[in-house]
Amino acid sequence: MGQVSPTRVTIEGGPVPYQVVVGRDLLGSLPPLVAGAQRAAVLHAPPLARYARRVAGALETAGVAAHPIGVPDAEAGKTVEVAARCWDALGAAGFTRTDVVVGVGGGAATDLAGFVAATWLRGVRWVAVPTSLLGMVDAAVGGKTGLNTAAGKNLVGAFHPPAGVLADLSALDSLPRVDLVAGLAEVVKCGFIADPAILDQIEAGPAAVADPAGPALRELVERAVRVKARVVAADPREAGPREVLNYGHTLAHAIEQVEGYGVRHGHAVAIGLVYAAGLARAGGRLDRATADRHVAVLRALGLPTSYRGDAWPELRRAMRVDKKARGGTLRFVVLDGLARPSVWAGPPEELLERAYTQEVAR
Ligand SMILES: NC(=O)c1ccc[n+]([C@@H]2O[C@H](COP(=O)([O-])OP(=O)(O)OC[C@H]3O[C@@H](n4cnc5c(N)ncnc54)[C@H](O)[C@@H]3O)[C@@H](O)[C@H]2O)c1
Repeated sequence: MGQVSPTRVTIEGGPVPYQVVVGRDLLGSLPPLVAGAQRAAVLHAPPLARYARRVAGALETAGVAAHPIGVPDAEAGKTVEVAARCWDALGAAGFTRTDVVVGVGGGAATDLAGFVAATWLRGVRWVAVPTSLLGMVDAAVGGKTGLNTAAGKNLVGAFHPPAGVLADLSALDSLPRVDLVAGLAEVVKCGFIADPAILDQIEAGPAAVADPAGPALRELVERAVRVKARVVAADPREAGPREVLNYGHTLAHAIEQVEGYGVRHGHAVAIGLVYAAGLARAGGRLDRATADRHVAVLRALGLPTSYRGDAWPELRRAMRVDKKARGGTLRFVVLDGLARPSVWAGPPEELLERAYTQEVAR
């Protein structure tokens, strides 16, 4: 099979537009993004050590000295202590304003790398090389970087868009299938809020879309990135319209909290999508067929669509402190129809509970 050339999606809205490159075996696209740098730090966690060596090799070939920096995996890497160790490493290697940070890994690694780049010398260039599906369609796109602290997840951070994002689908070959499928929940979200062709494609062949080497997943990644690109361009600093990306996330965050973050984000989002659709239906805003389609599409992918029936009181309490609630009023992104998202501030308590009991509880 001949090599398909990469697709480039431009992200506007920030200080400088940048591109998300989607394709397979993309490391040849790295050198132009680091042009002018003498050094590049390659931040990565242990599961990505091999791929990070390939990234370092591509940098060295382009004449840029690569400095691999190993960081703890997943959320354990998103701490102030780890960021401080990265700053120390940059200092020891003599990093200057023209040098570059490359973040290789899932959303946690790219969030950390972006934050380290945002803060070193008050902001140096960085490149995101997301290796999880969630990273490619969500975390690495949009310019938000962040860390977790004792006060909560992602409460410390900076808007610091990368110089470019390489969504190299061949990196997904080593991603456990369960994580790949979990990442599809964010893709499904994009389908419901903005691009129903995503849903058509999943319905036409749910098994095919979980194959990282196949054309179906590639098209879904491109479509989801385009959805995020449009939303981010309209609201680069999350002042308002970007809220639609929170579809399904209000209940999802509550589930993550109740589970002590021991649940995959995509699994929580899948349940949250079913809930948001049920809420809109209970409120007479969304038709039954579109609400039911949420369950059907997510189930076809093998994603969870229900949660413990006795959990409502805990979930309701957790939602009260959702950081996206404003002044104590819960704000739900709901659909008034397919691809017609809007925000519902303060839905009646009775509907909140009924939607849970009828649509999500098992
Ligand atoms: N900045 C944003 O706008 C934004 C948006 C959404 C999510 N996020 C953040 O993203 C993070 C979640 O990202 P995630 O779901 O990618 O989780 P993750 O980064 O924790 O990665 C999940 C696991 O998969 C491993 N992994 C990643 N790619 C792999 C590969 N190709 N092969 C083998 N293993 C691989 C990781 O090492 C990790 O163990 C959270 O910290 C979340 O806050 C940020």
